[in-house]
Amino acid sequence: MDLGQVLHMNGGVGEKSYANNSLLQQKVISTTKLLRDESIINVCGNTLPKSLAIADLGCSCGPNTLLVISETIKVVEKLYKKMTHKSPEYKIFLNDLPGNDFNTIFQSLDTFKENLRNEIKTEMDHCYIFGAPGSFYSRLFPDNSMHFVHSSYSLQFLSKVPEGVDDNKGNIYLSSTSPSNVLKAYYDQYKTDFSYFLKCRAQELVEGGCLFVTLIGRQSEDPSSKEISYLWDFMSVALNDMVLEGIIKEENLNSFNVPLYYPSLSEVKLEVLTEGSFSINQLDSSQIIFKELDNYKDAFNSKISGSLTEDGYNLGQCIRAIAEPLLVGHFGESVTKEAFNRFQKYVTDNVPKDRTKITNITMILTKRP
Ligand SMILES: C[S@@+](CC[C@H](N)C(=O)[O-])C[C@H]1O[C@@H](n2cnc3c(N)ncnc32)[C@H](O)[C@@H]1O
Repeated sequence: MDLGQVLHMNGGVGEKSYANNSLLQQKVISTTKLLRDESIINVCGNTLPKSLAIADLGCSCGPNTLLVISETIKVVEKLYKKMTHKSPEYKIFLNDLPGNDFNTIFQSLDTFKENLRNEIKTEMDHCYIFGAPGSFYSRLFPDNSMHFVHSSYSLQFLSKVPEGVDDNKGNIYLSSTSPSNVLKAYYDQYKTDFSYFLKCRAQELVEGGCLFVTLIGRQSEDPSSKEISYLWDFMSVALNDMVLEGIIKEENLNSFNVPLYYPSLSEVKLEVLTEGSFSINQLDSSQIIFKELDNYKDAFNSKISGSLTEDGYNLGQCIRAIAEPLLVGHFGESVTKEAFNRFQKYVTDNVPKDRTKITNITMILTKRP
């Protein structure tokens, strides 16, 4: 499976779209705001560059796509005004895989700039926004060209399904019944991918430039621990039932695994130190309890309606918006639709939202001289 072609979030603005089901991700972006503000101020430092290059990796398409960018520009504008300095020129790069709906983003840019102009009372003609399609597990930008590179909720995706996971039978991700060679294959793929990601970003950032990443991680050192990955167990149950009912062929299920890895804090730290291009300003984990999302009103006044239903936050729908294209690529439309209907029921019946948490890892790294 060529992930570059099949991996993308559910497009459009319908009930099952990512745009309408990314409240969790928006909450995460809001919780890291203060740290992000501090980091961009540090990057501008005393030198106040005339031209700032900023990238968002795994930007997707929806209300979150330009959120970090607009918040970052506002902070920079405030800083430059305070220092009685002319606003810088902004070069903004929005990256995602080629299957992402870049056209919809491009169509929204005039409105984005106009809103920003009205809000910060500054002309936005010196703000240039570019699409940068491609995998962040490859070089995306020229040497020493970026000041601030941000990514939220994207780096838990691997570049591919690890090789040698054929005997992960009955599972579609790491689980308590996954053989040890499967756990190792996933960890090895994570190390290879993350280390190469760091190497590429180090070449692209200017000296002192900042890499700010938040991703889904885990608390336990055991990669097969339940935590958030038990959600994939529910999808495995749904798919296995469909095998028993003759809707899916067993070999078709056995050849499907999701290209994700939720690392622990110590796994992230080890890789950053081993790769060696960055110093660590901050590396922390935090948790969000799903129940908190039931009453969450987005901090940025954007419209993400689908995630909130009469029963509160709809976790099943959030996962569907992220994973549906991946399953469609392997099982086809109708099987995937049925699998998600069953999955939604398992989630509604079995996930205690007040006890279910998601672990986020945030790292703020500076490129070493
Ligand atoms: C869950 S979405 C997060 C979107 C957005 N940053 C947010 O916080 O709402 C993850 C995004 O990462 C993108 N992605 C996954 N692997 C990628 C890769 N190797 N290169 C670029 N983008 C990738 C996916 O296509 C998807 O749009």
